[in-house]
Amino acid sequence: MMKSKLILKDGLIIDPARSIEVRGDVVIEGGKIIDSGPGAAASHSENADVVELNGMIITPGFIDMHCHLREPGFEDKETIKTGSLAAAAGGFTTICAMPNTQPPADSASTLSFIAQTSTRDSLVRVLPIGCVTAGRAGRELAPMIELAGAGAVGFSDDGSPVGDAWIMLRALEYSKPLGLPIINHCEDLSLVANGQMNEGKISTLLGIPGNPSISEEVMIARDTILAEYTGAWVHIAHISTAGGVEIVRQAKRRGVRVTAEATPHHLCLTEYAVMDYDSMARVNPPLRTQADIEALIEGLNDGTIDIIATDHAPHTADDKAQEFGLALPGISGFETALAVLLSLVHAGKIKMADLLYKMSAGPAAMLSSTGLKLGTLEKRAVADIAIIDPDHEWTVDSSVFLSKGKNSPFHGTRLKGKVKATIAGGKFVFNEIGKN
Ligand code: DOR
Repeated sequence: MMKSKLILKDGLIIDPARSIEVRGDVVIEGGKIIDSGPGAAASHSENADVVELNGMIITPGFIDMHCHLREPGFEDKETIKTGSLAAAAGGFTTICAMPNTQPPADSASTLSFIAQTSTRDSLVRVLPIGCVTAGRAGRELAPMIELAGAGAVGFSDDGSPVGDAWIMLRALEYSKPLGLPIINHCEDLSLVANGQMNEGKISTLLGIPGNPSISEEVMIARDTILAEYTGAWVHIAHISTAGGVEIVRQAKRRGVRVTAEATPHHLCLTEYAVMDYDSMARVNPPLRTQADIEALIEGLNDGTIDIIATDHAPHTADDKAQEFGLALPGISGFETALAVLLSLVHAGKIKMADLLYKMSAGPAAMLSSTGLKLGTLEKRAVADIAIIDPDHEWTVDSSVFLSKGKNSPFHGTRLKGKVKATIAGGKFVFNEIGKN
């Protein structure tokens, strides 16, 4: 018989939303956190299942503002079900699905399909992002008010930028009263041209057409100017360049409503990952330089970059088994995100609590429109929890990913730190406690 309470006993509770870092217990009942802290287990021992954690980290379940679940339309790459399994294995309890599906999520009926499928198939909370433009074609606005009514938590044409400044201006004007962000994939395609990797010495050496950092910077500059003009909220997806970080920093100083995200791969891999023409490292925007990485880390630490998002982009083996320029861009990221990012913690570049903040409380703040109390272990918060062993060493084997997308440039990499269990709404959705 299931007991009514679940006690996570003797973990290191890190709740960055409240700056709490303390050894203790977390007590869950009815899908909510009802108590936590040193000795909390003792007063709730009746009718409770107890899981001993021996100092493992207990932290809010991760929230991913940017992933691709591919359903409807590209179920060979991923489904909401397999995406949610992979998310749960990565410690994620809330994931925001980008609308570059087929059909694109530009109508209330597609959002309602995603909601129904998620209710049926998903282990974690799926929140949809609606298109900015009809069909993601960039020509006319999607019915944004209708999409917000159907549960969209933001708008994006991700995979493609909103290229037309006039459309971007109108999109910002419509999103402002809705209180939702326009999440832009900032790459000016006229500057990307045929670029397939970062433009620089390595692209020249390899003979691969380069995508210059200015393709991103120009569009971030445009978008911060438009956000300043309208007073609306723009969110910069997968920021990758030092110049882009500086433009966001300056805009924030002027009081512009701009937020930004960085991905694990842009924070931890350079263009050298492409050195042997490895299509697994092909991604948009491209992997950049060590100097860009240092700027991204500085941006995380000084608050310029608000959150970390995976840009989980699963593709089939065939999509990737092509010469570099023909392989589809994207990295299957859920199952390696935390462990990859922990390399920054182990290297002393970012504090553990700050990293966890950028993956929970930070994105939770972007989801205030949902009215849910997410991203904290506070009393009465939804019991969405990740349990982490920061010392567990393992080697990434993408062939055993729960995601259908095995496309990972981290395959074969030795990492330190692992998600051992994930609890969503008070129930285990992933559990490897006790396994090596
Ligand atoms: O590399 C990428 N893949 N970047 C994007 O923005 C889209 C994504 C995809 O959907 O595959």
